[in-house]
Amino acid sequence: MPRKQEIVAESQPWWRDAVIYQVYPRSFADGDGDGIGDIAGIRRRLGHLSDLGVDAIWMSPWYPSPMADAGYDVADFRDIDPVFGTLAEAEALITEAHAAGLRMIVDIVPNHVSSAHPWFRKALADPRAPERDLFWFRPGETMPTAWVGEFGGTTWTRTADGAWYLHLFTPEQPDLNWGHPGVRAEFEDILRFWLDRGVDGVRIDSAALLCKDPTLPPVTEGRPHPFHDLDEVHEVYRAWRRISDTYPGDRALIGEVWLPDAERFAHYLRPDELHAAFNFDFLGCAWEAGKMRACIDRTLDAHAAVGAPPTWVLSNHDVTRHVTRYGRADTTFSFDNNLDGTPVDLEQGTRRARAAALLSLSLPGAAYVYQGEELGLWENENIAADQIQDPMYARRGHTRDGCRVPLPWSGDAPPFEFSTAEPWLPQPAEWKDRTVQAQTGDPSSMLELYRAAIRMRRAEPGLHAGAMTWADAAPGVLAYTRGPDFACVVNMSGAAVALPDHDSCLLASGPLDGVRLPPDTAVWLRLPARGQ
Ligand code: GLC
Repeated sequence: MPRKQEIVAESQPWWRDAVIYQVYPRSFADGDGDGIGDIAGIRRRLGHLSDLGVDAIWMSPWYPSPMADAGYDVADFRDIDPVFGTLAEAEALITEAHAAGLRMIVDIVPNHVSSAHPWFRKALADPRAPERDLFWFRPGETMPTAWVGEFGGTTWTRTADGAWYLHLFTPEQPDLNWGHPGVRAEFEDILRFWLDRGVDGVRIDSAALLCKDPTLPPVTEGRPHPFHDLDEVHEVYRAWRRISDTYPGDRALIGEVWLPDAERFAHYLRPDELHAAFNFDFLGCAWEAGKMRACIDRTLDAHAAVGAPPTWVLSNHDVTRHVTRYGRADTTFSFDNNLDGTPVDLEQGTRRARAAALLSLSLPGAAYVYQGEELGLWENENIAADQIQDPMYARRGHTRDGCRVPLPWSGDAPPFEFSTAEPWLPQPAEWKDRTVQAQTGDPSSMLELYRAAIRMRRAEPGLHAGAMTWADAAPGVLAYTRGPDFACVVNMSGAAVALPDHDSCLLASGPLDGVRLPPDTAVWLRLPARGQ
């Protein structure tokens, strides 16, 4: 039985089917020549994003930070770190992005602050300071729990006065106490601060972790988790939604929610909560038609139940780049399954990444593009241990730095005009073929594939309002239609397959073999008008 997605009206809010580009500011473009990307660099290179045709930019954290976790340790949510620029420059970027037709999403990190945040400094300085109540301080000789942190390792650090404080990530990221009204009030004010500056949405970091069971129970199978996905967290987002709804122009709340249970995940997307959340089920899924189809169905069903738009995410600043993932024997992604250093076939990975672009850009909902994915960049697995900055490395033996390497813009050798100085992480010399300049105008390049696909997606009515229906396909092949005359076929099998009847091929991720679709290739087809 073919399954259907409900048709949504064409006048839908932008976040329901936008293409959203993640800018990782340290690595996008360096304007002041210190080897680290910044706002000046982003403003100078905004044309790349207009040329790509994306609808919105999501900016990873740019706030003042000691950078213990690359800016996800925020010391002041209402300012910009000097390494990136100034608040005035951020405001200018928002204005310029809007003028270029690009919406802006900022990253808010509510689970924790930096240990350099004034609240935590005061809490640490005096055991009687009222600021202690804003965090999770506990007395005692022994560690209050044996919880394992999100990066591995313990979750408590002892203070000089003998108390312990909780940090689900590094000790430099103390967790806030969301049971305290002061924490709620502060973040509601931060939300307003950025909405008042015209941002079109916020991405909410670690959105399912905020609330903790105050009795601090051990993690026990079959019992509610003490800090993952507590029911109380939903009231936080209902309050945020009430605020964002008071602003004109469809402001969006987008959650980073890593939850294996699709139904619990969808709770975050109920009509009075978040607008969207990242689809990590899809990101982690194997390059295998049966598994992919099941994942797509799970996604569509879970979102349909709450009326929220699905999202399609292939990569971000935390995960191994998908050119590398799809080039391995095991094509899944999970933090618990470290595949670093296992053999990679980059040609195969690139071919699959091209096909995956046509897949993710033609499924119903919003699509995310992580900077560099449009250039076909792979994970840099050759960063020397003494250059690694990611705090996860010391705890899990895996670094996320390999996907955070500065972008190659032009030229034949590093720094590829990313900067005039040595970039903060090394770029592979082989990226000389993957610069924006080298790929521009080359119809076989990844960049021109993304440009063409995004342009076509914008113009194609079936890709906005069209119902999605699975079509019959050979084993190992995904085929679906969007609306009456658009189809996407993705061949994940090991052999070429016949294409269905079609009037024309709109776009192909690789050369076709006559009317056959080679392995690891996808096409967008115009179907013959159905007998009407
Ligand atoms: C999120 C971010 C990640 C960060 C962590 C702690 O998962 O995406 O980069 O390390 O939260 O803030």
